Amino acid sequence: MAFSQTTFLLKQVLLLHLLCSIITTSTSAASNTHFQILNVNESIKGSRTDHAKMSQYNELFERHNNISSSNTSSDEARWKLELVHRDKMSSSSNTTNNMHYHRHQHSFHARMQRDVKRVATLVRRLSGGGADAAKHEVQDFGTDVVSGMDQGSGEYFVRIGVGSPPRSQYMVIDSGSDIVWVQCQPCSQCYKQSDPVFDPADSASFSGVSCSSAVCDRLENAGCHAGRCRYEVSYGDGSYTKGTLALETLTIGRTVVKNVAIGCGHKNQGMFVGAAGLLGLGGGSMSLVGQLGGQTGGAFSYCLVSRGTGSSGSLVFGREALPVGAAWVPLVRNPRAPSFYYVGLSGLGVGGMRIPISEDLFRLTQMGDDGVVMDTGTAVTRLPTPAYEAFRDAFVAQTGNLPRASGVSIFDTCYNLSGFVSVRVPTVSFYFSGGPVLTLPASNFLIPVDDAGTFCFAFAPSPSGLSIIGNIQQEGIQISFDGANGFVGFGPNVC
Ligand SMILES: *[C@@H]1O[C@H](CO)[C@@H](O)[C@H](O)[C@H]1NC(C)=O
Ligand SMILES: *[C@@H]1O[C@H](CO)[C@@H](O)[C@H](O)[C@H]1NC(C)=O
Ligand SMILES: *[C@@H]1O[C@H](CO)[C@@H](O)[C@H](O)[C@H]1NC(C)=O
Ligand SMILES: *[C@@H]1O[C@H](CO)[C@@H](O)[C@H](O)[C@H]1NC(C)=O
Ligand SMILES: *[C@@H]1O[C@H](CO)[C@@H](O)[C@H](O)[C@H]1NC(C)=O
Repeated sequence: MAFSQTTFLLKQVLLLHLLCSIITTSTSAASNTHFQILNVNESIKGSRTDHAKMSQYNELFERHNNISSSNTSSDEARWKLELVHRDKMSSSSNTTNNMHYHRHQHSFHARMQRDVKRVATLVRRLSGGGADAAKHEVQDFGTDVVSGMDQGSGEYFVRIGVGSPPRSQYMVIDSGSDIVWVQCQPCSQCYKQSDPVFDPADSASFSGVSCSSAVCDRLENAGCHAGRCRYEVSYGDGSYTKGTLALETLTIGRTVVKNVAIGCGHKNQGMFVGAAGLLGLGGGSMSLVGQLGGQTGGAFSYCLVSRGTGSSGSLVFGREALPVGAAWVPLVRNPRAPSFYYVGLSGLGVGGMRIPISEDLFRLTQMGDDGVVMDTGTAVTRLPTPAYEAFRDAFVAQTGNLPRASGVSIFDTCYNLSGFVSVRVPTVSFYFSGGPVLTLPASNFLIPVDDAGTFCFAFAPSPSGLSIIGNIQQEGIQISFDGANGFVGFGPNVC
């Protein structure tokens, strides 16, 4: 008990330090900005709890089976959802790949495999091809199905109510896509999910959408069948959903939202780890954020809690959720990919020193190529190869005293920290356009990849000029989107 409290305090210290480095522009506490302490023993222990505490997670899920009825009067609480990582989901859902999660190594390798697929999909959609990309995607549909896909999509999940009366359903959250959908009866093809499949016949608020309606026009990939608006979305990793568009009531936290355009998926593939569907949080007009529009001012905020901590994160909608004191960075619009949240990154730092690399490596081109995307669905941050190599070399140069280990999975820079209680490592920072500097907690860039004390530098080269800020680097930091004004905020809260 005392141990875990110490970790918690240590984390707070690291994150408070993060807060300081965001806010201060001067270099007052010079020594603090150069090094951090990674608590090795606690990091490994944290990852072990993942499988040691499966039964506890099952309990957690049972408790979650009702939509939260906690009675708080603040506006923030009205729109608040608990955010759960998939490693917890898998213990409650009965998917065939359940066994993968019983051991940390398997879970890690599975996660990295999914990550490579996710990145390949993003790169295909967002790099090269210019205006052809959209066409390409349509063509891909149906031909790109990977049979026997065993990992599924989605890293983080929330629980919302669908229909009237509300049926609780787990939803994958995705900051990189727009459509909100659930598997729907009658199902011509549904994958296994942990809740009963949603049946429109049991909902008083369900109404179909005709082909001629304005909302049907807003769909990228609309079709028409017997007068009904049809949608289809392919996620490029083999998962897809097809069905009809409908207006339905959603219950988000304690807030009831009527007439949300959702896909009622009659034909779906992909595992989505037992979730009923997907909650698109992208920047387009069909995403939940886009549809809530005036009600929430295009604003939402989330906290991805570190795996292995046993606690949950949160997702909150509305301007009330936007914190005071965050470091705000302008969002960059890519007309070619309006769903994605691009940010202006200007550089990287190690040990308090900015690495000499060109800012152009991170720039979104006139053609809509390259640039830096914030993505909840990608685990490991990807950087253009020249940027990655300079960054890694600077990190290696400042950790010369640590014993190296051979590369693991997508990581080429690993350390054998077996036998260490804690190590001193250089700080790692993102320099954003406009000045804010985000200094990461040590546990966001040096992660355990097995139970034996191997830790890796958790960045990887991008297969293209596209950079992606992944969820491992976002963990524990409150991240807020102010869509209306075009900013993303980091901090100041820890979670
Ligand atoms: C590291 O943690 C393990 C179990 O969590 C404990 O048995 C061991 O004594 C710890 N090692 C040190 C050096 O504190
Ligand atoms: C949900 O709450 C109701 C009333 O509080 C209770 O009767 C029911 O058993 C709960 N359902 C689940 C799945 O926990
Ligand atoms: C919530 O609490 C307030 C006062 O604190 C009370 O008036 C209200 O009836 C409560 N609502 C529910 C649903 O319990
Ligand atoms: C989960 O799997 C077990 C064993 O395969 C089976 O007995 C059980 O009925 C399944 N539960 C659900 C809810 O599908
Ligand atoms: C890591 O170092 C320990 C000694 O500190 C050693 O026993 C172990 O074999 C090393 N592991 C690897 C994979 O090299």
